[in-house]
Amino acid sequence: MKILVTGGAGYIGSHTTLALLEAGYEVVVLDNLCNSSDAALHAVEAICGKSARMIRGDVCDRALLDRIFREQRIDAVLHFAGLKAVGESVRKPLDYYENNVGGSITLCQAMAAAGVFRLVFSSSATVYGEPEQMPIREDFPTGIPTNPYGQSKLIVENVLRDLSQAEPRWRIALLRYFNPIGAHHSGHMGEDPNGIPNNLLPYISQVAVGSLPELSIFGDDYPTIDGTGVRDYIHVVDLADGHLKALQSIAERPGIHTWNLGTGDGYSVMQVLQAFEQASGRAVPYRVMPRRSGDIAESWADASKAAKELGWKATRSLQDMVTDTWRWQSNHPRGYLQ
Ligand code: NAD
Ligand code: WQD
Repeated sequence: MKILVTGGAGYIGSHTTLALLEAGYEVVVLDNLCNSSDAALHAVEAICGKSARMIRGDVCDRALLDRIFREQRIDAVLHFAGLKAVGESVRKPLDYYENNVGGSITLCQAMAAAGVFRLVFSSSATVYGEPEQMPIREDFPTGIPTNPYGQSKLIVENVLRDLSQAEPRWRIALLRYFNPIGAHHSGHMGEDPNGIPNNLLPYISQVAVGSLPELSIFGDDYPTIDGTGVRDYIHVVDLADGHLKALQSIAERPGIHTWNLGTGDGYSVMQVLQAFEQASGRAVPYRVMPRRSGDIAESWADASKAAKELGWKATRSLQDMVTDTWRWQSNHPRGYLQ
């Protein structure tokens, strides 16, 4: 089987490319490297001894997509390519709608023209908005995302639902990730954000390695175990495995399907910080700041639908996640540059 992985040089895409190659799939990566470098794919090759074919280009480029589908015999697409910075999306909404919504539509048009109808889409728990109860099940209503990034994910989900209604040959998995963190166990692949990180774990690990002075904790007055925000952190390697299971599952299942990819457990910012300090042996200075606009108090998944239908469960603990993050960050203090 040959899989096109859009955004395959990025954080989640590169870990999934590795899992696909290890499982015997052939992989073609399409990435414009706007938030990554091909160093991640060199690491993939060094780890597994196999390589993906890398095509540098844009998922909005229809002519390029047509050429890829003509020249490669693609069986299915894992679609990671997109922009993901929530704050930036507020400042540059058109870029987010163009890349995330426009890119997904162009991709689907090219797939349909080529007769390729299997698609796994990177959605997000952000589409739930602020649910009234926890844990979050797939049949909960979607919310009103508070930023263009979240809107773009919800719009693409809706486009894909309409598409599957209109054309029964489509087999689509909408994977709603909770909070992906962690790194490959080797310590040679991991998250390498551009500039100052927006997300908790990359921020903590850059403080620990000395690249940033201190962590800001956004709010300690939430109605949670210790007042700090609670999230369902999931190891990126577990997440990658979830994609393989989804790919196998849609081969047997026509239509469109939604699966939460989370562990089912929630941890607070303080709990994550303490676990990280223990794993790294480093103190991470922090300061409590006001709440960050748009944040919710807590979010964790009911992961039982994926367990039942995909036979997939996250197996790595919070300890594994922070230990692997630290191994990557301490081996590569400046990310793939070093
Ligand atoms: P990432 O930025 O590391 O990877 C995305 C990749 O897509 C990058 O390599 C980037 O260069 C590429 N890309 C962006 N726009 C492109 C375009 N127009 N054409 C071709 N390539 C393009 O991000 P990630 O964390 O690996 O996220 C992967 C996907 O998962 C994204 O769609 C993201 O929205 C979604 N997601 C991420 C998280 C998270 O917390 N990391 C959570 C939920 C969903
Ligand atoms: C986690 C917790 C913060 C940074 C975001 C997107 C979501 C999805 C995943 C793509 C919260 C707190 C954070 C910091 C902190 N991405 N925090 N100090 O906000 O749950 O989700 O990434 O789809 O759409 O919104 O993740 O890692 O930013 O925050 O105190 O410097 O850590 O307030 O409680 P979030 P996060």
